[in-house]
Amino acid sequence: MAHRFRDSYLNATLTFADDKITWFCPEMNDVREVMMSWEQPIMNKMAEVAVSSGDHVLECGFGMGILSTAVQARNPASHTIVECHPQVLVKLNEWAADKPNVTVVNGKWFDLLSEPEKYDAILMDTYVDDDLHPKFAGFCQKKAKDNCKVSWWNFSGGTTDEFMKFYWDNVTFTEVTGLTVPENTYYNRTNYFVPLKVLNQKAKTYGIVDSSNVHTSTSETRNIYKFDADQDVLTCADPSNPSLVVKKGMLSYGVKCKGIYNINNGLLVVTGNHPMIVKREGSWIEKNMNELVIGDKLYKVDNTEVEITNLNFDSSETIYTVVRLNSDDNYFVNDILIKNGGKDA
Ligand SMILES: C[S@@+](CC[C@H](N)C(=O)[O-])C[C@H]1O[C@@H](n2cnc3c(N)ncnc32)[C@H](O)[C@@H]1O
Repeated sequence: MAHRFRDSYLNATLTFADDKITWFCPEMNDVREVMMSWEQPIMNKMAEVAVSSGDHVLECGFGMGILSTAVQARNPASHTIVECHPQVLVKLNEWAADKPNVTVVNGKWFDLLSEPEKYDAILMDTYVDDDLHPKFAGFCQKKAKDNCKVSWWNFSGGTTDEFMKFYWDNVTFTEVTGLTVPENTYYNRTNYFVPLKVLNQKAKTYGIVDSSNVHTSTSETRNIYKFDADQDVLTCADPSNPSLVVKKGMLSYGVKCKGIYNINNGLLVVTGNHPMIVKREGSWIEKNMNELVIGDKLYKVDNTEVEITNLNFDSSETIYTVVRLNSDDNYFVNDILIKNGGKDA
């Protein structure tokens, strides 16, 4: 709903029920929902992907406090909640009364721009303030600590709509399924993709996690960490005209990195700036790992394709050992063709 209703909303008397907050919008001559309890699984997932124990969290928009409660369950060091509707603020202050790590801000999230605080996680779920949305990406850059996790209400619920993606690259999505949404409301799907953007997420190097296996022929693999000079490696220059060739002389070496991408729950685990080969809109193209999206297809050693259905970024303090082969040839890792020859960040 557009921001032209914002003043009406801020002056409206809201109705609070167990399962929703509503108001009467005079411009639309209709009762509109601000928030509904069917969103609980989405809010839980949003907290899960974006908030780690000990984080300093900024949450924009309290609503029914569903997300706030999910954030609290993850033990943030601090939890700042900014809210602008006077009635919601009353509820928020009651809710926060016994929570010493919560700071309530009466106002709009953009008002915090000039404040000095920075955050490990920023969560955005507001209402009738889309005039402020174009400012959100810049706001986050200013308010983010290194590797800050940003998540927000995704209007489309899918993974392709640019609206509310703030034109960021490298947004990853986690699917929530089995939603029970009432009819004739603001959402009409039974699934929803929770977006996550990690700011300043560059890995210092490129590589694949050391437990990965590389094909030495069409039928045999070897753990990448055990590669040495003069090792056979199965290569493929171009998946659109595939020809599998065994080459020699590759050598792997390992380095440490923090922050890593995981495709399809462990199919491939690689750094964000590792070069990859994917089929998108019918063509094979080269993209860095952190530019891949759900729906891209990967080329398999058996000349089939596998679609990316799950993409996660682990920004935790975990240090991974990643390894790469010293060659310009593309090769198969865990049956998947990947591009060799990346760049350290
Ligand atoms: C959809 S609800 C949030 C629901 C919440 N995530 C939950 O789990 O219950 C949106 C909330 O954002 C508040 N809001 C709208 N515009 C805002 C702004 N610019 N800054 C802060 N809060 C805002 C509304 O008053 C409302 O309480």
